[in-house]
Amino acid sequence: MSEPVVRRADGAPVEAMLCPGGPMIVRGAVVVQGADGTDHASHRGVSAVCRCGKSALAPWCDGTHKLLPGGR
Ligand code: FES
Repeated sequence: MSEPVVRRADGAPVEAMLCPGGPMIVRGAVVVQGADGTDHASHRGVSAVCRCGKSALAPWCDGTHKLLPGGR
């Protein structure tokens, strides 16, 4: 799994938790850089960022990782 590039919208340090075989869970308003370099913003309190590269909602996790070998 590749690690997504995530930064907080307010410049504060990113609070993140890596789910084994799954997404990166981040707190607060964040900006995630997509695979094509495009920035994607989330203003949710908690966001799940795809780390498997298979989400149809990239860069956000859509649960597809659960169908992959090693996914949980
Ligand atoms: S981590 Fe990729 S779909 Fe969940």
